[in-house]
Amino acid sequence: MRRPFLRLAGALLLGAAGAAGPAHAAGVAPAADDSLYRALGGQAGIAALMSDFAQRLKQDPVIGHFFDHTVARGLADSLAEQVGALSGGPVVYRGARMDKAHADLGIGRADFNRLVEVLQDTMDARGLPFHTQNELLALLAPMYRQIVTR
Ligand code: HEM
Repeated sequence: MRRPFLRLAGALLLGAAGAAGPAHAAGVAPAADDSLYRALGGQAGIAALMSDFAQRLKQDPVIGHFFDHTVARGLADSLAEQVGALSGGPVVYRGARMDKAHADLGIGRADFNRLVEVLQDTMDARGLPFHTQNELLALLAPMYRQIVTR
């Protein structure tokens, strides 16, 4: 289902990300409390969301090629840990730093925007409310500067 307003909101968040400075060492400020974590269904809900997301990324006609050598399960686990931690859950992210993980991939703005669209589609498919979707996007948007390299 197309949701132009949400896509616009996502684009605005991404635009704002370029101007905002990193709030801590990882470049992204975690949530102040666990309300988003709970709205996402806790770690089980986040794991299910990221499992769906990773599979959609691999199958995506636009950016799927980036993930040709990626095992969906491994990416989903890493994303679930990252989102669990960022959204205020009792989780520690043990994966690579975002700049290191994406340094050699040659990711452009359009690729990043497409990934956001795929995430929005995944959240739509799982029936997550609009404000929950936007809260998650707002947490991820500041990573733009570490991920886009061309
Ligand atoms: C806010 C946006 C993004 C987030 C939160 C994100 C998050 C992550 C995380 C957590 C990992 C795993 C790091 C590790 O554990 O080593 C990863 C790896 C990766 N990401 Fe991203 N990423 C984002 C954007 C993108 C974009 C736009 C692309 C390409 C279109 C991309 C392509 C990849 C690839 C190819 C890997 C390597 C997977 C592997 O190990 O096989 N990412 N990303």
